[in-house]
Amino acid sequence: MKYFIVTYGCQMNVHESEKIAGILEKLGYSPAERREDADIIVFNTCAIREGAEDRVLGNVGNLKKLKKKNKDLIIAVCGCMTQKERTATNLLNTFPFIDIVIGTFNLPKLGYYIEAVKKGRELESERSGKQLELFDEGEIDETLPYKRTSGDNAWVNIMQGCNNFCTYCIVPYVKGREKSRKEENILKEIKDIIAEGKYKKITLLGQNVNSYGKDLVPPVSFSKLLRDICLLDGDFTVSFMTSHPKDLTDDVIDAIAEEDKIEKFIHLPAQSGNNRILKLMNRSYTREKYLDIIKKIRQKIPNCRITSDFIVGFPTETEEEFNDTCSLVSEVKYDSIFAFKYSPREGTVASKMEGQVPEEIKSERVNKLLALEKKLQKENYI
Ligand code: SAH
Ligand code: SF4
Ligand code: F3S
Repeated sequence: MKYFIVTYGCQMNVHESEKIAGILEKLGYSPAERREDADIIVFNTCAIREGAEDRVLGNVGNLKKLKKKNKDLIIAVCGCMTQKERTATNLLNTFPFIDIVIGTFNLPKLGYYIEAVKKGRELESERSGKQLELFDEGEIDETLPYKRTSGDNAWVNIMQGCNNFCTYCIVPYVKGREKSRKEENILKEIKDIIAEGKYKKITLLGQNVNSYGKDLVPPVSFSKLLRDICLLDGDFTVSFMTSHPKDLTDDVIDAIAEEDKIEKFIHLPAQSGNNRILKLMNRSYTREKYLDIIKKIRQKIPNCRITSDFIVGFPTETEEEFNDTCSLVSEVKYDSIFAFKYSPREGTVASKMEGQVPEEIKSERVNKLLALEKKLQKENYI
């Protein structure tokens, strides 16, 4: 019995797929080289932008042929798209050959559902046995094994969810509120990873790692977690993502500066360089505050690599306001940036704002920003 997992979205999803692989291997499945060879195909989906969802839809649609060839094939869809009830129901209506739709927090039940599909098929002459369990907000699972697949890098989830509700973003709706893992569980996981001897890099994951531990009793700060990890014996480095500028405090910058084991790298998404847009995005910092943090990082960690994400064409963004984003990029001189066209997400505040920017203008702006980035990169190398 073989499995094939198709992963979309962020590193947290990549890591979640390692958990899915762990579950499937525990059930006796082994990895298939190609999806054509698989007995079960799992799509771990992303809902961050329309483009991400379209890619999933296209690829799931293509499976119809495979399903025709192999009647026993099980197709499961999980991840952030399935956390939205309407999208999940649409998926099932459009692609009736999907067997399992399972929300992120129900992943521990994946094995149970696979068995249920098989049983259902045995019992019913027509091949159904469809299983559907959508979203809900659950505890972080500490019991299921990971099958690590990222070479000498080991991902470690330190928290899930997000409380920030940036007005463009779907994540708080699909991943629920912030929940931190207990520090002792994280430290134990990292100790075990180091003891395996295969990993040189530990990458801590969370939507907003700087607010780690605020929900624990008693609270634990992110900088304490970082320092405690660095106290562990072994030859390894630690990095983390993502940092929200509003929560990147001095104690974290100091820890990065002082601890040899922490990589000198910060992904610090600015999203925009214009204060009116930042406010509409609900990012809780201004351009000036963001630049202050950058200054502090450069002073305390002179060799620090800094990267960022930007959204262009947020509702009502004018050409001048977009130019503020360009000037911020020129000023900071990032090591690299990601630039995205704003994509309205159903249910978010920004999707209902007046003044949505036409697609052509978004494309123009994203191309301009990427061209600027390319030019700056060249200058950096000279
Ligand atoms: N938690 C991280 C971001 C996670 S999403 C943070 O706060 O920085 C990764 C990136 O996708 C974001 O930084 C943002 O630039 C982009 N993004 C999120 N929602 C988007 C949307 N609706 N349209 C376009 N880009 C979006
Ligand atoms: Fe989305 Fe904002 Fe949370 Fe990041 S901090 S996941 S952009 S709501
Ligand atoms: Fe996408 Fe979910 Fe990550 S929406 S970016 S896979 S948290």
